[in-house]
Amino acid sequence: MPRNVVFVAPFPAEVTMRFVRAAARAPDVRLLGVGHTPPSGADARLYDDFVRVTDPLSARDIIDATEVLRRRHGQPYRIIGILESIMVQLAQARAHFKVPGTPPEVAELFRDKAKMKAALRTAGLPVARSRLIRGEPDARGFADEVGFPMVLKPPAGMGGKSTYRVGSYEELLRAAKGMGASDANPVLAEEFLRGREFSFETISTRGAPRGESISHYLPSCLEAIENPWIQWTCMLPRDISGAEYDGARAMSRAAIKALGLDDGMTHMEWFQRPDESLVIGEIAQRPPGANISLMTGLANDINLYDAWISAVVDGEFHGPWQRKYAVGSAFLRGMGHGRVASVTGIHETWEAVGKWVVEANLPTVGAPRSESYEGDGYVVVRDPSTEVVKRLLKTIIETMRVSYTG
Ligand SMILES: Nc1ncnc2c1ncn2[C@@H]1O[C@H](COP(=O)(O)OP(=O)(O)OP(=O)(O)O)[C@@H](O)[C@H]1O
Ligand SMILES: [Mg+2]
Repeated sequence: MPRNVVFVAPFPAEVTMRFVRAAARAPDVRLLGVGHTPPSGADARLYDDFVRVTDPLSARDIIDATEVLRRRHGQPYRIIGILESIMVQLAQARAHFKVPGTPPEVAELFRDKAKMKAALRTAGLPVARSRLIRGEPDARGFADEVGFPMVLKPPAGMGGKSTYRVGSYEELLRAAKGMGASDANPVLAEEFLRGREFSFETISTRGAPRGESISHYLPSCLEAIENPWIQWTCMLPRDISGAEYDGARAMSRAAIKALGLDDGMTHMEWFQRPDESLVIGEIAQRPPGANISLMTGLANDINLYDAWISAVVDGEFHGPWQRKYAVGSAFLRGMGHGRVASVTGIHETWEAVGKWVVEANLPTVGAPRSESYEGDGYVVVRDPSTEVVKRLLKTIIETMRVSYTG
């Protein structure tokens, strides 16, 4: 009997489809899709059945569509998806159909940055001091406690949207007001963390990490958000076995345990302060974006998409991973707004780094400028040497130039 795996994929974006393709080739799986728009072209036949919904972010729509699939095919075996914005809704659907997998309380801890920080703090893990700001008294109290700068963000944000550094009490009040801070809609304020920013990924089963990976953000996401011309890079060093990463490894393991994830992938962001102390930024219970899923596979010479499916469908890990490469992504963008007008330096870049390029997606002339620090395109490079990958990334961002119509 095939197992009914319901994959909620709101739109057939390429990043999502890589995981859907992995689910489609998994053994003994009947792949059932739920989403707003089904895939077309070569991906059209991946699902054995697909139910369209009006609002793929609504738990109600996800549950109703899954009920349609249940009537047609029988009880779901797993209900899965990769997007941060639907993690809690997926868990609610699992609870509704009594399907194994991350429960709503756990999904909520990973989704809500205030609850997450409270749980990590209770477990004795280092996180930024934080406070939910509803109005002036909260703002005043927290400012007295941590001072400035401070970071403001929505408690369940993603993609760095509406994440601001504020430098004074006046700026804090203005930003909190602009974000609509109120009793019903509190804004999360955090002590400003200084230092270098990294990520830590795991494939975990039965609550423990089985495969691990680290990436380095250059510069930090916030610097990329604040300086829209910066071409952000993310680099996975080849060797992560050293003692310099022991602290991060321990934090990741303890965070997974504290929040209660069983089977799946985690993506933790962490900082190394100038005094070398470590602190957790946040942790997600899903495959990471910003090419980090792709790069984790490339660094270990494995298929990360299949590894995630094994974890969330079978509760299995096929390892251990052996890190064979350093990998990096350069995200392409430039100063300006409007639409992409031109990309220069492509030829020179290829002359210099072409032989290391594993994947590239160049900005499309005429496309609207992306709002994200992931820019309008990217180049992924790989080499056994971390130093070589660093140099390649530097060459790419110094050579490629994106310009816009405005
Ligand atoms: N307390 C803080 N101190 C310093 N920088 C911070 C702090 N909180 C967030 N940042 C910066 O802002 C970025 C975005 O913040 P955060 O990760 O909380 O938002 P997000 O919406 O989940 O973003 P993403 O989806 O890109 O991870 C972080 O990667 C980090 O660079
Ligand atoms: Mg983040």
